[in-house]
Amino acid sequence: MKIGITNDHAALNLKNELKGYLIDQGYEVIDYGTNTNESCDYPLMGNNLCDAMARNEVEKGIAICGTGVGISIACNKHKGIRAVCCSETSSARLSREHNDANVVCFGARIISFELAKDIVETFLNTPFSNGERHLKRIQELTDLDNQKQA
Ligand code: RB5
Repeated sequence: MKIGITNDHAALNLKNELKGYLIDQGYEVIDYGTNTNESCDYPLMGNNLCDAMARNEVEKGIAICGTGVGISIACNKHKGIRAVCCSETSSARLSREHNDANVVCFGARIISFELAKDIVETFLNTPFSNGERHLKRIQELTDLDNQKQA
């Protein structure tokens, strides 16, 4: 599976640790984030990933900032993106089963590398349930995307 990863300056170390871990696990990882400690803006870093997803360069995304909050808000501005901000694995699992989330976000200042690995593995390895009620609600999200951005 091809994974996109992005980060702002606050998440550089966690991004590098996770990227190395995922490559060791056999994932192909494309990096859309900053690679310096110089201050940068999370909306732009989220945008780099979401544009790549719109071009189908990567199937799923990981977006990290200091809290995970700013970059998840930024990613959710993009059509077709369903980003979830997680600080525990249950939300990562349920966001896949119920919401077919395609970007997982978290905060480098909030969670540890160990927890980040668990969240990412849970997110990447949990399939969408295909449940009828969930499909209906995701279609409603898609309809809203189309109406608001028309
Ligand atoms: C950057 O200092 C910080 O504001 C950013 O990484 C993020 O936490 C915003 O939500």
